[in-house]
Amino acid sequence: MQDYKDSNLKFWDSIVEDHVRSDFYDVSGFLQGKTTLDSVEINQVGDVSGLTFLHLQCHFGLSTLDWVRLGAIATGVDFSPTAIAMARKLSKDSGLHARFVESNVYNISSSLDEKFDIVFTSYGVLCWLPDLTKWAEQIAHCMKTEGRFYLVEYHPLMMALDSGSEKDVVLKNSYFNEGVEIFENEGSYATSESSTKESTYEWSHSLGEVITALIDAGLNIDNFAEYPYATDGGFVGYLRRDEDGKWRVPDHKWGVPLVYSLSASKK
Ligand SMILES: C[S@@+](CC[C@H](N)C(=O)[O-])C[C@H]1O[C@@H](n2cnc3c(N)ncnc32)[C@H](O)[C@@H]1O
Repeated sequence: MQDYKDSNLKFWDSIVEDHVRSDFYDVSGFLQGKTTLDSVEINQVGDVSGLTFLHLQCHFGLSTLDWVRLGAIATGVDFSPTAIAMARKLSKDSGLHARFVESNVYNISSSLDEKFDIVFTSYGVLCWLPDLTKWAEQIAHCMKTEGRFYLVEYHPLMMALDSGSEKDVVLKNSYFNEGVEIFENEGSYATSESSTKESTYEWSHSLGEVITALIDAGLNIDNFAEYPYATDGGFVGYLRRDEDGKWRVPDHKWGVPLVYSLSASKK
């Protein structure tokens, strides 16, 4: 377990600067006022003004600061010291105040004292976590009694599919969690212009696993939705970008769920 954590951390530390420079993250657009948030999470979370907001696995803080623009009192957490240092710099450069804390998601309860109105995490976060039971327990711990948890994530089915011959999309991997998968990376989902060649250890969590972990941690699932599009899908070979900027299965041939969202509260 320590090996997977060390390798993944090495990968994330090494890729931060390339991500900050990438078109994918468009930091200059962000500094000019463009939001990185999608309507899925904006509609799901609703009004955040004046609410304390914990953003888990915040990377270099771009979307954390977008929630600050919408009025949240935000804390971003990530285990990568390079990402946290970049997030603090971005906070200073943008004039948007947020607190950024370096912590493993499994240790937040010892890294942070307070409880939050909103705990939020999104897009590309669960695949790095071997144990969703412990993840959900940390989330429940950080929520106020009346607090809410929001997750927006790439759908596990999207990751199980791949391009087939012609325009076909075929099942290439198991939908279910078959244990750890090791990837030899050259660059990342956000940039191929990177010298990063770190291995990563990842897990594919089914919807049942996610929902069961949250229920077992004492949370009520209040809302669950699936979406046939993704805002960022350039790293998924079989998707195409439509005129509205969203990524879908070409020709809308099949209604494949690409993203899901859920909200949960304490019982
Ligand atoms: C795909 S990024 C999240 C991206 C975010 N949605 C965005 O677009 O900015 C995943 C993040 O999870 C962080 N991470 C991975 N494993 C972690 C762990 N065990 N504890 C805390 N952060 C972790 C990585 O450092 C990385 O910043």
